[in-house]
Amino acid sequence: MTTTAQEAAVRAVGTGHVRVEGRDKVTGAARYAGDIPFTELAYGWLVLSTVVRGRIRDIASGPVLEMPGVVAVLDHRNAPRLETDYVSLLGRPDPTCAVFQHDAVPHLGWPVALVVAQTPEQAREAAEALVVEYEPLPHDIEFTGDHPDSYPVDGHMPGVTDKGDQEAELAASAAVVDEEYTTPEEHHHPMEPHAATARWEDGRLEVVDSNQGATWVVGELANLFSLDPASIRVRSEHVGGGFGSKGVRAHQVAAVMAATVLQRPVRVALTRPQMFALAGHRSPTVQRVRLGADTEGRLRALDHRSVSRTSKVYEFVEASAGVARVMYDAAAHHTENRVVRRDVPSPTFMRGPGEAPGAFALESALDELAEKCGIDPIELRLRNEPDKGPVSGLPFATRNLRACFEEGARRFGWAQRDPRPGVRRDGRWLLGTGTAAASFPAGAAPSTAAITAEADGRFTVRIAATDIGTGARTALTLVAADALDVAPERVTVRIGDSEFGFAMIAGGSMGTRSWSMAVIAAARDLRERLVPGMAIPAEGITVRSDTTAQIAALANMERHSYGAQFAEAAVDPATGEVRVRRMLGIFAAGRIVNPLTARSQFTGGMTWGISMALHEEAVRDPAFGGPVGADLAGYHVATNADVPRIEADWVDDTDPDDPVGIKGIGEVAIVGAAAAIANAVWHATGVRHRSLPIRPSRVL
Ligand code: MOS
Repeated sequence: MTTTAQEAAVRAVGTGHVRVEGRDKVTGAARYAGDIPFTELAYGWLVLSTVVRGRIRDIASGPVLEMPGVVAVLDHRNAPRLETDYVSLLGRPDPTCAVFQHDAVPHLGWPVALVVAQTPEQAREAAEALVVEYEPLPHDIEFTGDHPDSYPVDGHMPGVTDKGDQEAELAASAAVVDEEYTTPEEHHHPMEPHAATARWEDGRLEVVDSNQGATWVVGELANLFSLDPASIRVRSEHVGGGFGSKGVRAHQVAAVMAATVLQRPVRVALTRPQMFALAGHRSPTVQRVRLGADTEGRLRALDHRSVSRTSKVYEFVEASAGVARVMYDAAAHHTENRVVRRDVPSPTFMRGPGEAPGAFALESALDELAEKCGIDPIELRLRNEPDKGPVSGLPFATRNLRACFEEGARRFGWAQRDPRPGVRRDGRWLLGTGTAAASFPAGAAPSTAAITAEADGRFTVRIAATDIGTGARTALTLVAADALDVAPERVTVRIGDSEFGFAMIAGGSMGTRSWSMAVIAAARDLRERLVPGMAIPAEGITVRSDTTAQIAALANMERHSYGAQFAEAAVDPATGEVRVRRMLGIFAAGRIVNPLTARSQFTGGMTWGISMALHEEAVRDPAFGGPVGADLAGYHVATNADVPRIEADWVDDTDPDDPVGIKGIGEVAIVGAAAAIANAVWHATGVRHRSLPIRPSRVL
């Protein structure tokens, strides 16, 4: 191989690198799904139901078809039929992606028609003019935690785990916490709204799309439209955020339908308000946590039960009680995830699904227990560190939560903290500090990658990875450079194209780890093929890897990323205003590939934590059936003035079973952040806030 001694001395992984596509992004050269030009492009505009539940009686397409530029109106009477009886990567499809198949309306904002026109303006005008007649039916969207119709659900994990005798252990406990915690409906709104362009060319379907996994979307579209996956190509070169919302949804399906019917390229993009109905959301939760501890603060009983809400057509569980299964053990240990079905859009994965609301409840309850026991909240947690999985009994791959708390406490100045609540003032502000633990599963899934040694001495990696803004493309460049033993400047990583073969989605905090394994496997094979001084042919030398067997052979262990969250809050008791003054997160999340972008991901997650603690709340009106103020003016998120200096750092936590030592950093940093803030608000005021968000009206 043509490496210089200097190149070999530079290890790229672990050193900070700016995004390889950063210049393209800031200069506008990077094109997103809705930007890419196509000749003969037509524009589809979705028409959403204005009733919550009911039947479509009539859609007056005729007059709209006479409007300027309109080329088609698709609805349940003329749209192509779809197949929905299949199981794919994430299980059965959510029927809400199978649009225009029947006259039933299952929720407000259900797509009832697609108006296609020559320009987006014409499509929008015609869509707004389309008269749809409904037969409304009674609906129920009200959500309560004690609803008699709730039932436990096995989502991606069992619905219920149970050991020991809760009542006996609680009765024998010196300190007991038994409280209810609630979190509201929340929405993920990536900067780039969902958009897809579909076209048929030479018998193949091409979809340019904003998604979290090109081969995943190919698989879903192949199933829905009964097509050979080899006849579909999905590209998603640049994606402006995903957070779990960018799977297969109504707009891609509608675009493919229209492109099929019209035999010309059709683009369908969602508006920000449409995203509130069509992009999924995080269910509200009602959680009850019961903790019992001995006089030393050691848990005897841990009981975490969560109820979330799903739609009437799809069972998605916000598995909030799952976090207790890995964090703390107790002689009596019970966790339970239940759902209630309502006439709402299907919820979906939203950053830190389950763990984010779950840790708010559990880590708030731990703080309450610390107060009751008179033990420092960090000390209480450390006394309850399990030596194996509390429910699984499996060993931990690594669990460096203690190191996170120790490093965090030192840097945050925790030792000087006066445990008494409500005694610190800064002018009109009451001040407090709080902490909480974070965890999120770390895993890997099969992927393929190809690497080409080019004749000019460069290397090209092709992998159907997606960079949803995380810096994954840059991370893979560094991983490939080290695996090939060359400088990162000699490596080009191409992603976001299903033609590169199957790969894990950008989700579950598993992307970079899964893709890196495939890149390293290909690099290893390529290096075996190359001998020093050999001539590389003009087409290069390409090898391809598949990590399916490697992943199957991974030891079954408790594998998680962890973190310790710290927050300082200031509360104005006259106005109820809460300001977060500083935050610190110390994480044990495997080997950090690119400190620059990793830090951004951590601080981004913690910013979501501020948002979750203080701002985010979709209030669904029981009569109208949708969120009130469904746009980013009505749905508040933390913005610049709400976000103080946030520090994020990490302790060494190299995963022994990963070729680079990676675990995963995508989601762990939102987990526990809201609890740390709520615990700080208690420390400032002496008042517990068990319902998020901590709005000024609740503080007063
Ligand atoms: Mo993430 S909620 O797995 O996209």
